[in-house]
Amino acid sequence: DHDDHLEVRPPVVTIMGHVDHGKTSLLDALRSTDVVKGEAGGITQHIGAYQVRLQDGGRITFLDTPGHAAFSAMRARGANITDIVVLVVAADDGVKPQTAEAIQHAKAAGVPIIVAINKIDKPGADSTRVINELLQHELVAESLGGDIQTVEVSAKEKLGLDELIERIQLQAELMDLKANPDRTAEGVVIEAKLDKGRGAVATVLVKRGTLKRGDIVVAGAQFGRVRALLNERDEQLTEAGPSTPVEILGLDGAPSPGDAFAVVENDARARELTDYRQRVKRDKAAVGGAA
Ligand code: GTP
Ligand code: NA
Ligand code: MG
Repeated sequence: DHDDHLEVRPPVVTIMGHVDHGKTSLLDALRSTDVVKGEAGGITQHIGAYQVRLQDGGRITFLDTPGHAAFSAMRARGANITDIVVLVVAADDGVKPQTAEAIQHAKAAGVPIIVAINKIDKPGADSTRVINELLQHELVAESLGGDIQTVEVSAKEKLGLDELIERIQLQAELMDLKANPDRTAEGVVIEAKLDKGRGAVATVLVKRGTLKRGDIVVAGAQFGRVRALLNERDEQLTEAGPSTPVEILGLDGAPSPGDAFAVVENDARARELTDYRQRVKRDKAAVGGAA
């Protein structure tokens, strides 16, 4: 049986919130990186996927989402592939349209929310106001007798980060997150692109099983043999277990974000599945073109 060997897996945590409230900065602080500096205009335009190794040996997978209005679909996707949402609200700005939208996505997906009240280092910071504004969206903070955890943080001054990590770990323990690493891999495509030199590059999140180099993968209407597995630091991996985000090379085309992927036993089975899906895709395009 596929589920007879379940092991604890890292939580998948999606960072959501209004534009410029400090989502990427918070992840940078947690990871000791500087992704924000490399972003054009300081705007996140895709879902970043990272795994953080903690001092206690634990791991957390983080997905970073853009706050800009144009990226609603990405936030919905993020909420759907996640275990926990960390809602970032800037303490000097409060609840804004994309904060409210993120709350809706998390609720629709049935995902627990932890609120990180960021930028508490700023002179205008007012976490009480943030907590009151959250109330208007039916998020009742623990300090008001509700069940929503709030943590004051500063990505800039690296304040409150340990507490945030602790809250995430406690929530994950409550959820008893497990998966069987000893089966063929399945998961979901986070994003994909066609790269001039490397061909199709797909970032996938493994949900169960272990994805290995050499596996034959079907992802949406595409398939191929996994030629390389890379983490976000471009380091080659030989395999990726449950909750691991990984870039894979070797697909014959770029699948669509949100597509499921699965390892299949052989090329013939992969062709059979993708022929059908390619046909459906072409038919849909034809109908769309005629309309
Ligand atoms: P989008 O991805 O564009 O939605 O933005 P984001 O939420 O990822 O915010 P980002 O990390 O790009 O930060 C926006 C701005 O806020 C940057 O100028 C950061 O330096 C600043 N910032 C982030 N966190 C803090 C903080 O804790 N304190 C202060 N003072 N500034 C911060
Ligand atoms: Na930004
Ligand atoms: Mg960002």
